[in-house]
Amino acid sequence: MSTDHPSITPELAAKIERLDTLLDSIAARHTRVKLASSLAAEDMLLTHAILSRGVAIGVFSLNTGRLHAETLGMIDRVRERYGYEIEQFHPQQDAIDEYVAQNGLNAFYESIDLRKRCCEIRKVEPLNRALSDVSAWVTGQRREQSVTRAELHEEEHDGARNIAKFNPLADWTEVDVWAYLQAFDVPVNPLHARGYPSIGCEPCTRAIRPGEDSRAGRWWWESRDTKECGLHITTIPIAVSTESASA
Ligand code: ADX
Ligand code: SF4
Repeated sequence: MSTDHPSITPELAAKIERLDTLLDSIAARHTRVKLASSLAAEDMLLTHAILSRGVAIGVFSLNTGRLHAETLGMIDRVRERYGYEIEQFHPQQDAIDEYVAQNGLNAFYESIDLRKRCCEIRKVEPLNRALSDVSAWVTGQRREQSVTRAELHEEEHDGARNIAKFNPLADWTEVDVWAYLQAFDVPVNPLHARGYPSIGCEPCTRAIRPGEDSRAGRWWWESRDTKECGLHITTIPIAVSTESASA
């Protein structure tokens, strides 16, 4: 990919080259592999790196039924720009109906247990279905995003599903991400410009104030160390050198 743009420093150009090599190597090693896209900035970057280069990695999104209209609009933006239809996975209606009948539609504000149960129904179970036919998946997680991700590895083993898991942006900074998006004119969720660096479900995401950390707006009523929804809890790090990752 051409990196001849004023916002691309030599350091970032090297990261981009390494990212492209890693994605090619993942696709070569795994006949069925998918990117899990939240339709936020990091995942749009990966979507661009995959679709603009024709890498054999599918892209899916968990449509929880509680996403912002702006987020869902990104599915249209991807279709317009890349001619690609992002696969959507929806929660089981029976499980939603039961949760709502027993606890109420917005019961996730009441306790961590009820919040995790909602994430389980709307995100984790659909994720399990989305990944049932792959031997590897790719995420847009970065170390910098949160205390819970400080030890994130580029390659992990997803023990629950017994498949490989890749976090190709593990060592990318927020500045790197936005320089890339700008240089390649990648479509981005308009909520980012309205103070949402991290975007999840509408009732569980708010804009952040200057100086707050990037995930402060996610489940803002909880403490920092509980802020994961269960999508990323069952992995074992795999130490990979740069050479073997890009071999
Ligand atoms: S999380 O707490 O919701 O998991 P975050 O929004 O920071 O965190 O997303 C981290 C990664 O999880 C994303 O880069 C993406 O790979 C995956 N992910 C999160 N939400 C979704 C979603 N709705 N659909 C598909 N993948 C998702
Ligand atoms: Fe439910 Fe909120 Fe989790 Fe979305 S983020 S699945 S609305 S608890």
